[in-house]
Amino acid sequence: MAAGAGGEKRILCVGLVCLDVISVVDAYPAEDTDTRCLSQRWQRGGNASNSCTVLALLGAPCAFMGSLAPGHAADFIVADFRRRGVDVTHVAWQPHGDVPCACCVVSAASGSRTIVLHDTNLPDVTERDFARVDLAQYKWIHWEARNAAEQERMILRVERHNSALPPAQRIRTSVEVEKPRDELLPLLAHGDVVFISKDLAKHFGYNTAAEALRGLRGRVRPGATMICAWAEEGADALEPDGTLVHVDAFPPERLVDTLGAGDTFNAAVIFALSGGQSLRDALTFGCRIAGKKCGIHGYDGIV
Ligand code: ADP
Ligand code: FRU
Repeated sequence: MAAGAGGEKRILCVGLVCLDVISVVDAYPAEDTDTRCLSQRWQRGGNASNSCTVLALLGAPCAFMGSLAPGHAADFIVADFRRRGVDVTHVAWQPHGDVPCACCVVSAASGSRTIVLHDTNLPDVTERDFARVDLAQYKWIHWEARNAAEQERMILRVERHNSALPPAQRIRTSVEVEKPRDELLPLLAHGDVVFISKDLAKHFGYNTAAEALRGLRGRVRPGATMICAWAEEGADALEPDGTLVHVDAFPPERLVDTLGAGDTFNAAVIFALSGGQSLRDALTFGCRIAGKKCGIHGYDGIV
């Protein structure tokens, strides 16, 4: 298939897919206690994978690229991608290693999510895997920062591809740096849009999204747009010319499940920007969809 239905170009998200085993509790348990939860479910997780779920729900043809190893967890994950209509052609099947799995505790009292992820021995997708992607099918490619050196080379491939094309046909790129790990920081210098997490901002000592965007501006390339979501404070963005845009959050009536709120926000922003909306409108849409997500368990019902 060259693109989505009607020849529409697709959005590709590169990053983690994992199995989330989610226990919903009435209140977060104390250490070394033995309690019952209110409900439990398996859910396909991982930032890039969650963003694909949201893009698909928003109606954008999209594809996921990340690693899996054959087995029960991968069967569940692939079936779930297919159910959502996410293309899995570019999953890199690894002969060795375990599919990452996370124990997630969602507190019904606060909506908080506490995640313990096992993500140790499954190799990530490489530049060689990415070389097989037919770039002509995509209008936007998003990377969740993981194996940064390989990912930098993937982005450079897209930049080379773009340099031969008129601006309107170029693939737009985005990068999310969420985890405060030094080896991920070089990725800040890539991408038309750079998503910075609250965690990363705090790691650098910033206490607001605006402070973080201004403080980290020197690390992104000229012309890049920076975006930083900040939970109930909403989100801020810095335009390439230094203009700061702030949008308030859209708090749901009751906060029930914030797992994947950031991934939902990123997907909704990418969806809006790739459809030609302004930065302010895209941030507003991101906060609106992410706010809705926080008011429901999982993703069904965000649109
Ligand atoms: P994550 O921690 O999942 O990466 P964030 O907490 O930064 O994500 O939230 C992403 C977006 O989700 C925010 O910009 C906001 O729009 C929405 N959001 C998250 N938490 C809340 C909340 N408590 N109330 C309202 N909106 C929220
Ligand atoms: C949510 C999430 C979960 C996963 C964890 C990995 O943002 O992607 O689905 O367990 O984060 O860090």
